[in-house]
This record gives sequence, structure tokens and C-alpha cells, in this order.
Amino acid sequence: MSTLIDIPLHHDKRITEVEVAQANERIANLLEEKQAVLVAHYYTDENIQALADLTGGCVADSLEMARFGASSEAKLLVVAGVRFMGETAKILNPDKTVLMPTLEATCSLDLGCQSDEFDRFCSAYPDRTVVVYANTSAAVKARADWVVTSSIALDVIEFLMEADEKILWAPDRYLGAYIENETGADMVKWDGACVVHEEFKARGLRDLKAVHPNAAVLVHPESPEAVIQLADVVGSTSQLIQAVVALPNQQFIVATDRGIFYKMRQAAPGKLFIEAPTAGRGATCRSCAHCPWMAMNSLDNLEHSLRTGENEIVIPEEMAARAMVPLQRMVDFRK
Ligand code: 13P
Ligand code: SF4
Repeated sequence: MSTLIDIPLHHDKRITEVEVAQANERIANLLEEKQAVLVAHYYTDENIQALADLTGGCVADSLEMARFGASSEAKLLVVAGVRFMGETAKILNPDKTVLMPTLEATCSLDLGCQSDEFDRFCSAYPDRTVVVYANTSAAVKARADWVVTSSIALDVIEFLMEADEKILWAPDRYLGAYIENETGADMVKWDGACVVHEEFKARGLRDLKAVHPNAAVLVHPESPEAVIQLADVVGSTSQLIQAVVALPNQQFIVATDRGIFYKMRQAAPGKLFIEAPTAGRGATCRSCAHCPWMAMNSLDNLEHSLRTGENEIVIPEEMAARAMVPLQRMVDFRK
């Protein structure tokens, strides 16, 4: 069911503070000139997150990024994140132009759930409500009844259970298993995984917890079940950031992409944030708590796309119209 995923290598291109300040000024001018706004995910480089804050844009989890586009007056959205985030913005805002720093930035969950195979999977279970994670292509969303992100997945499934619906879930098997365990929903699941979160190791986490007994453990639900079981808080990126403020702990072990530490440090200055371990038996450490596709976004390619108009998200009209229905349900959903 899942495809062999080719994971890109990280390219660590450091730039000086002066270069960052100069790039910020040029990009801020371009944003103003083009009536554009920068929408960034918490896993992108901290220079990009800082620039989004500085220019009145948005730094958020995938649900808030989707909701932000519609509330913005901007004509042009520059989405720094991965492909499905740009596609979601375009589907929900067909009259706005959506650019991305690079169209190569994808996601292993999206790559591992090709629409033709997914269509056959859905056809085998015609009596089930199709719920897909936002980390999917526009074509997969077009086949779904609902789209969810990790911040509302449990609530949406509980809502559907109240209507006695049986669920077909795709593509993340770990998030699917977590939802199943928490809600008792009747679910058949696609067999996909996030290459970043799948690498977190329960044994290493237990050892680290022994070294930092007062640390709270924060886990994104794309992680394996054994890691989730050790968590004090399981949640979306925004929910994990809220937890570092709400909890009295001074130390946190964090099982998600380390790009999130930038906002955690801002939200709770003085507290200590420790990466959950990815090393151990069976570890490949090709991801090492940092998404290789999120890492493809840089000030350089962001400026290039804004200046040239390259990397525009274009989705066939009919597909976008069908994907809009489950996506609109997602953005309108309130508990
Ligand atoms: P959030 O919706 O929690 O931001 O997650 C997006 C994602 O891709 C996590 O790997
Ligand atoms: Fe996809 Fe995982 Fe990267 Fe999130 S961290 S975008 S789920 S590969």
C-alpha cells in the first residue's frame, strides 16, 4: 500500500545576521509591493518564522495556516511549509495567488498515498466515511468526505461516531491508531507514516526521562504508539506550544520537529527544551527530528519565488472544487 520514499538530504546553508537583515528588508518590500502575506509552519527555519511575524504574516500549525488564508485581505499568499499546505491554501482561496519557496517540498505521508491506489482502497469500503489527514494531495482530498489535522482529528471522529459512521482513515497509521485507541472508533486504516516522527524511540525516551525526571514529555501524534504512551501531552504543534506555557514544568522533552523550539522558547523563555531521541536500535536517523522537506524552505528561495512569481500552486478546477468540500468542513469545524 505504501510507496518507497526517497528522502532528500539536509543542506545546511548558514547565512550571517547582516545577510538575514538585508534579505528581510528586500522580502518585506516585495510583500508590500505585491500585497502579499507570508504564512509559515512552525517547522520552517527560524529566519522564516521571524520574518512572517515581522511582516504581519502568520506562523502556525497546519489548521491555523488553512484558516488564516481566508481571513487575510492579501491578494497573494506565500506559503512556507510543504506542498499540501500550499495546495490547501489555494483550494480554500481560489481567487488568491499562492506561491511557495519551492514546489519540491513534499511530505512522506502525501508521497505514500497516491490517488489511484487510494481510490481503489476507498472503493473497497463503500459504506465508510472517508476521513483524510491534511497531509495529502489535492487529488486524495477530492476523494474524501472530511479532512482533519491533528488538532481536531479526535473531535471530528467523535462527532462522526455520534452519527454512527464507520471510518476509513488515511494516510498516517500512527495517528490513526492513536485516534482508534482514544475514541474506540470503527476504523480501517491506510498504512502510511511520517519519516520524521516514526524515528522517535520509546526506549531512548525512557532513558532520557530518567536523566530529566522533572521534564514533561510532549509528543506529536504522528509518533509510534510506544512513544505516545510515554507522553504527558499529545497534540498538534500549536497544542504542544500551548502546553509549554500551561504546564508548570521547567523542562520539556519534545517529540516533534525541532523547528518548533523557536516558538517554544519565545512562548516560555527560560524553560529548557530537549529533543526526544531518534537514535537506538532500528534507527536510520535520516530525519533526526527535522523534516527534510520543511528544510528546503529558505529566505533565498522565498525571495526568488516572490520576485519572479515562480512556484505558483495550480490545481485543476474540478479537482479543487471537490477537495474544497471536505476542506471547508475542516476549517468550519468547531467542537
Ligand atoms: P500540525 O498540524 O500539528 O502543524 O502538523 C503538521 C505536520 O506536518 C506534522 O508533521
Ligand atoms: Fe510530512 Fe512528517 Fe514532514 Fe510533517 S514532519 S511535513 S508529516 S514528513
